[in-house]
Amino acid sequence: MMVTVKNTARRWGSGAQLLHWLMALGILASMGLGWVMVYLPSSALKFELYALHKSLGITLLGLVFLRLAWRWVNVTPPLPDHLPRHERVLAKGTHRLLYALMLLMPLSGYVINSAANFPLNVFGLVQIPNLTPESATLQAIASNLHLGVFWGFVVLLILHIGGALRHHFVLRDNTLRRMLPGARR
Ligand code: HEM
Ligand code: HEM
Repeated sequence: MMVTVKNTARRWGSGAQLLHWLMALGILASMGLGWVMVYLPSSALKFELYALHKSLGITLLGLVFLRLAWRWVNVTPPLPDHLPRHERVLAKGTHRLLYALMLLMPLSGYVINSAANFPLNVFGLVQIPNLTPESATLQAIASNLHLGVFWGFVVLLILHIGGALRHHFVLRDNTLRRMLPGARR
């Protein structure tokens, strides 16, 4: 089958695939970076990693909007026919929540930074304005939200990745393959 940029009724196009895998990498890197930076003792490196974490996070926020728009102008390949109703509900629910968390994760981070009244500069290229007035209370709320959303994300990713592997290795259907590049089947 031809690989196309847009989705078809049978598989994800290269546009959706690129966004999916680029964002998956970026999100996992942000998570790792987040934990390393908060535990490092105060240093120039710690400062640099914070800046990198925030730049990457704001880039991911931009990408999720692009991804939602791309999804809107594309067909979504339907789930395999053999899936029972409760599995469809679970898969769709997980996907919706993943989108919600891809928004909430960087937005809560953005609010931490704004409420701390810290300048935000994406990769030293674009200056982003602060969203909120300076407030220690708001900063604490956003910080708790950032951490809470992170753990929700971990649980959903276990479900999501577990589901993908189950489709591939147990049900042996096309679900994982149609999110991978290559023209096979
Ligand atoms: C997909 C995007 C993001 C992910 C997955 C992510 C993940 C994390 C993780 C795992 C931590 C360490 C745990 C914690 O202390 O909460 C953290 C901390 C932090 N993140 Fe993010 N983050 C993202 C985006 C952002 C953005 C866009 C900003 C700011 C513009 C930001 C600002 C911070 C700050 C300031 C901390 C230090 C802890 C705190 O003040 O509460 N994050 N992030
Ligand atoms: C941070 C990591 C990840 C996030 C946020 C994420 C998010 C998502 C979302 C939201 C969808 C639904 C797409 C849509 O309906 O528009 C999706 C689809 C998919 N994801 Fe992920 N994903 C991640 C990592 C992974 C990994 C590691 C795997 C494989 C082991 C994977 C396998 C898949 C597959 C196979 C689909 C297509 C499902 C279908 O065809 O119905 N994802 N992902």
